[in-house]
Amino acid sequence: MSAPPRRAATPVIAIDGPAAAGKGTLARRLAETLGLPYLDTGLLYRAVGRLVLDAGADPADPDAAAAAVAALAEHHLRRDDLRGPAADAAAAAVASLPAVRAALLDFQRGFGAARGAVLDGRDIGTVIFPDAPVKLFVTASLPARARRRWLELEAKGIEAPLARVEEEMRVRDAMDEARLAAPLRPAADAVLLDTTDLDPDAAFAAALKVVRERLDVT
Ligand code: DC
Repeated sequence: MSAPPRRAATPVIAIDGPAAAGKGTLARRLAETLGLPYLDTGLLYRAVGRLVLDAGADPADPDAAAAAVAALAEHHLRRDDLRGPAADAAAAAVASLPAVRAALLDFQRGFGAARGAVLDGRDIGTVIFPDAPVKLFVTASLPARARRRWLELEAKGIEAPLARVEEEMRVRDAMDEARLAAPLRPAADAVLLDTTDLDPDAAFAAALKVVRERLDVT
């Protein structure tokens, strides 16, 4: 007799991966479909980075970043200047500081613990929710991801050569992978989803299949 499907009391779905791999679109759609809250954890680091820039300080300065993280409020996550090259670089810099990551940990755990959630980021399956019943590591080739980011920027009227977008993405991914504090890497029990040749619908279908296999949801 096969074991009944496991239903987690608080189903946390952890979605990690590099920039512009399609995590956000996928995570938002999964959350909507499953009726779960959604948190884009990159916004936390983006907002902290932006607050450091507002203060005229260097995002790599641990004291300036600590002051920013202490001042962080929910409305900062809704700012409209959290995307673009300067915000990307500031977010990557503050994200490599252990004190910043430690200060944001409880908020992320609290968000998912109450009634489950879909969270996307870099360390959700490895650090924030190592026991999450569903973990996806979403990736795509660097040229595919750079092109997607370039199209997003273009749609917002931000002009940047594709080659520069790709180079900045390569550098930022390398920072995320090489940092000592919670580096970007797949959890041992994560399912890999390569979206290089998948459109958003196909990526969603593949992700939903994984979720259904791991949770008792229809
Ligand atoms: O997902 P994003 O591009 O919005 O993330 C912005 C930056 O924050 C990026 O450099 C990776 C970092 N980040 C992180 O270190 N851990 C997370 N859970 C989410 C984002």
